[in-house]
Amino acid sequence: GVARATYSKASTHGAPNIEKETITRLLYNIGSQREVQWYLNHFSSVESQKFAVIKVGGAIISDHLDSLASSVTFLNQVGLFPILLHGAGPQLNQLLEDAGVEPNYIDGIRVTDAKTLTIARSVFARENIKLADALEARGTRARPINGGVFTAEYLDPQKYGLVGKITHVNKGPIASAISAGALPVLTSLAETPDGQVLNVNADVAASELAKVIEPLKIVYLNEKGGMMHGGTGKLMDVINLDEDYEALMKEPWVKYGTRLKLREIHDLLQHLPRTSSVSIISPEHLQKELFTHSGAGTLLRRGYRLYK
Ligand code: ARG
Repeated sequence: GVARATYSKASTHGAPNIEKETITRLLYNIGSQREVQWYLNHFSSVESQKFAVIKVGGAIISDHLDSLASSVTFLNQVGLFPILLHGAGPQLNQLLEDAGVEPNYIDGIRVTDAKTLTIARSVFARENIKLADALEARGTRARPINGGVFTAEYLDPQKYGLVGKITHVNKGPIASAISAGALPVLTSLAETPDGQVLNVNADVAASELAKVIEPLKIVYLNEKGGMMHGGTGKLMDVINLDEDYEALMKEPWVKYGTRLKLREIHDLLQHLPRTSSVSIISPEHLQKELFTHSGAGTLLRRGYRLYK
C-alpha cells in the first residue's frame, strides 16, 4: 500500500515525499503553524480513505476546474487522499436543451427517460475524464471510476423513470485506486444487479458513499463558498445541528434547495460518528476551511465540540 504521511511534531521536517515548500506555503498563507499542524495530524490520523468525501458540483468542473485541480492537488501533496464524486447537472441541461429535451424535476429529482439517460451517461463519462485529466496534468494521480461502485434499485419507475435508489456501495474500486496512489474520481451513476444503468442525484450518491466510508470530512464544493443566511444574506459560519436544526427549518427563507440540503446533511450526520462534519466551501478556499479553526465557508456538525 501507499505510505501515509505522518505529521508528528518531531517528524514534520523529515516527512517523506512531501515538498517542504508545499507545507511552508500552506503554513504561512492560511493560518498559524500550530493550527495547521493540528489539522494535518488529525486528517492523517485515520486510514487514507477516511479523510474526506468531496462532492464536486457540475458547475465547478465547467467553470472552476483550475482552482479545483489545484486545491485537490495540494491536499494530495500533503499526503491526503480525498475521494471525489461529481455531478454534471448544468452540462446535462445544456445538452438536453440542444437536443430539444425539456429537463423535468419532481421534488428536486431529475425525471430520467431513456433519451435523458443516454445523454447523461456520455456527459458523465466526459466530465469524469475531464476532472481526472486536470488532476493528472498537475502531476496528481487520479483514477476515473465511472461505474462498479453504486448498486441501485429503481426509486419509482412510474414517477421518475430511470432513477436509482442506492442499495449497496462497493468500496473495492476506491480502495484499489488509493492503494495504488491515485485519487478516486467517481460519477454518481449506478447499476441494478442485472446491469441496467440508473441515474442518481450526485448529492444523494455522496451521502450514501459517506455513510459507508465514514470520513472525517464531507465537503460540498459550491461557487458561493458556503451556505447563505436568507435573512441577513451573509454566509453562515457554523451550524450546530443538535441545537440549530429545528429552529432553522422553521425559518421562512429555508425552502427549496436550502431546505433539501439541510435535511440531507442533518440525516447524513445522524448516521456518522460525531467526529465527522460537513463543510460547504468554494474550491478556492478549501485549504483555509480544512486547515484553520475559523475556516472560510459553512461548517455543519452535530454539536460535539471537537475544537477548543
Ligand atoms: N478546519 C476545521 C474543519 O474543517 C474547522 C472548519 C471551520 N469552518 C467554519 N466554516 N467555521 O473541520
